[in-house]
Amino acid sequence: MLTWNPCGAEIEDLTAENMTRLKDLFPAAFRDGEIDLAALKQLLGVDDEGDADERYGLVWHGKRKARQIALTPSTGTLLPCPDNSVGWDRTRNLLIEGDNLEVLKLLLKSCAGTVKLIYIDPPYNTGKDFVYEDNFRDSVGNYLQVTGQGDREGKRLTSNAEQSGRFHTNWLNMMYPRLKLARSFLRDDGAMFVSIDDGEVGNLRHVCDEIFGEENFVANVVWQKKYTRANDARWFSDNHDHILVYGRKKDALQLNGLPRSEAQLKSYSNPDNHPNGPWKATPLHAKSGKNTNPFTFSNGVTWAPPSGTFRRFNDASMRRMDEMGEIWFGTDGSQVPQRKTFLSQAKKGVTPTTLWTHQEAGHNHEASNDLKALGLGGLFDNPKPVRLVRKMLELATAADAEHVVMDFFAGSGTTAHAVIDANEADGGNRRFICVQLPEPIDPPRRTDGASFSDIADIAAVRIRRAGEAAAKSGDQKVLDRGFRRLKLASSNFRAWTPDADGLEKTLLDNVEHLVPGRTDLDILTELLLRLGLDPSASVEKRQIAGKEVYGVEEGPLIACFAENVTRDVVEDLGTGIVAWADAMGQNGSVRVVMNDSGFQDDVAKTNLASILDQGGITELRAL
Ligand SMILES: C[S@@+](CC[C@H](N)C(=O)[O-])C[C@H]1O[C@@H](n2cnc3c(N)ncnc32)[C@H](O)[C@@H]1O
Repeated sequence: MLTWNPCGAEIEDLTAENMTRLKDLFPAAFRDGEIDLAALKQLLGVDDEGDADERYGLVWHGKRKARQIALTPSTGTLLPCPDNSVGWDRTRNLLIEGDNLEVLKLLLKSCAGTVKLIYIDPPYNTGKDFVYEDNFRDSVGNYLQVTGQGDREGKRLTSNAEQSGRFHTNWLNMMYPRLKLARSFLRDDGAMFVSIDDGEVGNLRHVCDEIFGEENFVANVVWQKKYTRANDARWFSDNHDHILVYGRKKDALQLNGLPRSEAQLKSYSNPDNHPNGPWKATPLHAKSGKNTNPFTFSNGVTWAPPSGTFRRFNDASMRRMDEMGEIWFGTDGSQVPQRKTFLSQAKKGVTPTTLWTHQEAGHNHEASNDLKALGLGGLFDNPKPVRLVRKMLELATAADAEHVVMDFFAGSGTTAHAVIDANEADGGNRRFICVQLPEPIDPPRRTDGASFSDIADIAAVRIRRAGEAAAKSGDQKVLDRGFRRLKLASSNFRAWTPDADGLEKTLLDNVEHLVPGRTDLDILTELLLRLGLDPSASVEKRQIAGKEVYGVEEGPLIACFAENVTRDVVEDLGTGIVAWADAMGQNGSVRVVMNDSGFQDDVAKTNLASILDQGGITELRAL
């Protein structure tokens, strides 16, 4: 007989999950259910007797806590905001308003190991930017307080001043748990790009090496953010940023070649009408090798590598190229012989360099113009140019593989804009997940028909307008240019926080365990997150026996949060659910979730369970 499993307390508990994995690997390191670290070290063959404080690595005050913070489950949820979204029912893109640490924790169960590219542009810790301070005990409460949504007066966001004794420490404590979680979102062939300037690049490199493993470091790209010289700079005019690139597993990461520039294409031509098409002349010698023997071509010309160099090709290859007309002796046949390297046979794209000039990747001024073009000029300081992120997309994503791109310091939404534009250009189906704190704009602004009280509003309006602009300019009608907007909030389920002096009242309050005022869609979204289903999955609503029932084919999941489920509707409701599960084609694996307090009594509840059981449904849960 099918039994009811509660699904209330299923928020991702990373510590418990890691412990289970560890126990699986090293059962002997556990005694009485507790981990024995000394035994684990012995099993790993790690001898750290003495010298504990002389270990190599970056150490700062609060590192241990920062590590722990990454592992504590979130007590919050994401509330859907369909009215502030674009194409809610159809889109797979997400714009989430909230503190990214909490949001990442909430998304982890659904999205771990699914993201192809993460790009972040965090606060650089300039002394002027705001650096979020996590609260270990009450993270969601702290967030609501910080953003002025709590019941007490909102705290003002302040910048991390350079004079503060913990300047780097505060920044590292903020970054560490977020980077740690970020890694878990990447697919094995995924990559993470992080923008930073000289202020924190050293610390960031250390922390990323620790989190990703230094063997997964791919590159430190230098991006020319400015092309003009700051003559008022005291020592150097600061014209570049860094972009650190890491792979989740570097060996699995394959970067695409970049398209050839106009100038690069111009170097190919076809003066002799060769059937292989345009070519460019390249040397027959190389800097290293062994073979220095001369070679005589069929036209009688004898060639030998210049002194100090070596032959690139052996006799057989030279002969083949000669026979195929692939050697160039100049228009009048008098030049040093060279090889014709054909465009059609060249590598699909060019290998990226670690130097990204403003001509190829845009610059700061261009980034401001990107916003101005959408009527959002002057609203946001220091955005990145769309072309910079397009370049990352070009390198690390494919058009037609539904690659997920994540940016959890989204700012004005440049990453989402770049994804929309990239899809428009190649008809692609990349998706984005962007997270942005509702950092207030003080005073709120109204411009060009929209009002903005925080930075998440800017991102939302920008993404909507970027989608509209793309739709106007392109002819690809089916592309996803919308987004679901969600926001971080306290859970839909009441937390069990017993009040010792008013236990009876606490008990009575918790009979109704759902927070009043929340909608079915709110509860359903939390359910998706708790069950590890994609919060962008499409949801179908049906009326069965007069009750609203929701189906998520991608789950598969069927949920009903209705009240007043009486004995007389149970039969129709149950058979309707079974028929829907059948239509989903996989009713053995369909999970059914019902609101426990919605049943008239235990008889109604038991009857429903047995109808579902007979219908082949094996997993039944109670809210
Ligand atoms: C440098 S900006 C990113 C700019 C972005 N790349 C663009 O082109 O618009 C960093 C952003 O991170 C946001 N931020 C800071 N702490 C955050 C947190 N804990 N959660 C989410 N966003 C945060 C800030 O509000 C700021 O808008």
